[in-house]
Amino acid sequence: MTQLFAHPDVEDYFVEHHVDAGSLTSGVGSKVADDFANERLILIRGFRFDADLKFLQSLSFLQKWRWKKLAVTRFQSVPEYRRRFDAEIVEFVADVFGNDWGRFDYFLAQASAVNEQTARLVEALFSAYRFQQRHIIWRFTETRVENLHFDVDRNCDDLELVRLYVNLDDVPRIWYTAGTFSTVSETYYESLGLSRFKGQSNDALLKRLDTGAFGDWNHRGRDTVPRHLVLFEPGDIWIVDGRRVSHQVMYGRRVVSTLFVAGPDGIPDPAKTFAQSVAVLHERMAQGIQRPRAVAHSLVRQSKNKLDLRASWEELPDHIRQESLIRL
Ligand SMILES: [Fe+2]
Repeated sequence: MTQLFAHPDVEDYFVEHHVDAGSLTSGVGSKVADDFANERLILIRGFRFDADLKFLQSLSFLQKWRWKKLAVTRFQSVPEYRRRFDAEIVEFVADVFGNDWGRFDYFLAQASAVNEQTARLVEALFSAYRFQQRHIIWRFTETRVENLHFDVDRNCDDLELVRLYVNLDDVPRIWYTAGTFSTVSETYYESLGLSRFKGQSNDALLKRLDTGAFGDWNHRGRDTVPRHLVLFEPGDIWIVDGRRVSHQVMYGRRVVSTLFVAGPDGIPDPAKTFAQSVAVLHERMAQGIQRPRAVAHSLVRQSKNKLDLRASWEELPDHIRQESLIRL
């Protein structure tokens, strides 16, 4: 169960797609890719990892900057016989496994399995994309109270960035999210003078939008804008373009995330890129055309009281607990 405490003043951009783990090419992919480009936060249901998740949940990474974003693939790329001479691996095994190399080897085997299956899932869901880079990052240290933001990815104007997250923890990962790029940029377009970023790189515009709409890093934890609260349960998988949906980790530990990158030649529809969304924004605002206001408000109201939660959520049937998005 993913719990969404939906704010009535913020559009509802959450969708769910079910995949059959046995046949990933079931046509769900094109819907996911469409939703991705249409500023949705997509929850993937029905995919099960074949790996020792209990073991991975038991790991405690030392809270150290170096292990905040871990590319396990680098460890894999070092031949086994050389790992005991690799300074970074030696430090990691000391910090996380108390120099127990047997446990490290087991970790590497499980992490490799998760990486391979994660990559397969992204490739299947975005089968019409040709990715030029495939990064999988392990974030197993604690993240507490980020500032609300759209991702600012430098030099990525003509790139599409697919971020998929898997909560491998035994506790929820807690996010806030406060609107889509289209809505927030339109709301603040005049007051932040966003028209001056026309022709400039998109990260300059996104940076101004982040600080102007939400406040900078020093404002984190003191946010005042309306926002949804989301609890991603253990095992939850979600996909979002961080430039199109604002977000903020309030608390998180043990997540695996992807950054799969496709260039202009590697995407099925060049009209659905983030760069195109920015171009459309400038054009629309120059012509004084406002988008219809958050249609999804009605979704929030409709889904209210859908589920009786007088019983505590622990008592709900498994299929609801594990496989549903609950709007509260
Ligand atoms: Fe982010």
